[in-house]
Amino acid sequence: MPQNSRSLVKISVSELQVGMYVAQLDRPWEETRFVYQGFFIYDWRDIQELQAQCEFVFVQAETEVVEEEKTVTAPSGKKIRTRVKKEKTRLVHKAPAYRELTKAANSMGQAKQTIHDVFRAVKLGRDIDMKAVTVAVTDIVDSIMRNPNALQWLSLIKDKDDYTAEHCLRVCVLSIIIGREMGFNEPEMVDIGVCGMLHDVGKVKVPDEILNKPGSLDKDEFEIMKQHSQYGRDILISLSSAPKSAVDVAYSHHEKVDGTGYPRGLAAHQIPLKAKIVGVVDAYDAMTSARVYKDPMSALESLRIIYDVRGKHFDLEVAEFFIKTMGVYPAGHIAELNSGEVGIIVRSSNEHRLKPKVLLVLDEKKQLRKEAILDLSVNCLTDAGKPLRIKEIHPNGAFGVRLENYVKKGLRLAEYDD
Ligand SMILES: [Fe+2]
Repeated sequence: MPQNSRSLVKISVSELQVGMYVAQLDRPWEETRFVYQGFFIYDWRDIQELQAQCEFVFVQAETEVVEEEKTVTAPSGKKIRTRVKKEKTRLVHKAPAYRELTKAANSMGQAKQTIHDVFRAVKLGRDIDMKAVTVAVTDIVDSIMRNPNALQWLSLIKDKDDYTAEHCLRVCVLSIIIGREMGFNEPEMVDIGVCGMLHDVGKVKVPDEILNKPGSLDKDEFEIMKQHSQYGRDILISLSSAPKSAVDVAYSHHEKVDGTGYPRGLAAHQIPLKAKIVGVVDAYDAMTSARVYKDPMSALESLRIIYDVRGKHFDLEVAEFFIKTMGVYPAGHIAELNSGEVGIIVRSSNEHRLKPKVLLVLDEKKQLRKEAILDLSVNCLTDAGKPLRIKEIHPNGAFGVRLENYVKKGLRLAEYDD
């Protein structure tokens, strides 16, 4: 049975190819113009930039250990057949996001069904099918390994009427993406995905009138809501097949590193790392989602809040990884330019996070226009001769622009993405 593991391989910058993941340079990152420490090579410009600044780099590779039969000569001179272990190394390439979209959408659909089954089972007092949960999460991890952008994009498409299941799914997807950024191996990524998927399972026991109250909760109602952490722990601990990490995350994802969280008011060092990751992702998704009682907050506004309370509510390192991974201008969000035009951010690169590529869809009067790609990293000007820049980032659906309509046009996305 082959075993896979991730390793780094040193290669000359002349051998670089699009899609490779550069994990280390031949010099400290601080001595280069690269802002982010580790990134996928997106196009030839990234290769040119690396060639201008380095001689060699370390790229991620997958090492597969396989057993092969071989004839060897024994000290006696006799030839014998034996099995030897051999390492095969191949460099990691990511699949283009447009090719991954269909598979990612299928994985998401399957996972959503699994979450519905989990909640139904808990409501009926039956056991959760942990095998089905693991299979669904493994499928998501595989998609993220091929290309995290596809699922990150799909996570932006939200159905207000199916909040709980979709929220669990998005927390699962984003926690895996953050875990990957933090260097988790694949089994750990599956584990944090399971934690993310099940983190709010205790909400099944919170009355619907509190869960879906169209307004803020009063003190007593909030106390009842807070019990979902304990309920979640109790539900999962009663299952022999639920991983201990999922029990910990369900119990501790509302703890804060300054000790003001619930249910136990744990200190920073007592909160498990996976609960810290799921905690940040959970808060971000809640802030950026529309609910019966609130409009969605923009991604930028939410990232700013996370930044402001890093080291108090959220673990400093986890919060910074999260902000870095989601990007300053995350791909898939709606951008309003200072010219009044509106577009969808299609690429937020490591090099030009403040100047992404935008697919323009509305003109300055917010009327549909012929779609066109605008690269803000190339100095563009408004009609008045001012530098063109992003004025505001809006959630999906702003000005009637819905990401799903463009994702459905898979071919068009293919032209603009990867
Ligand atoms: Fe929660």
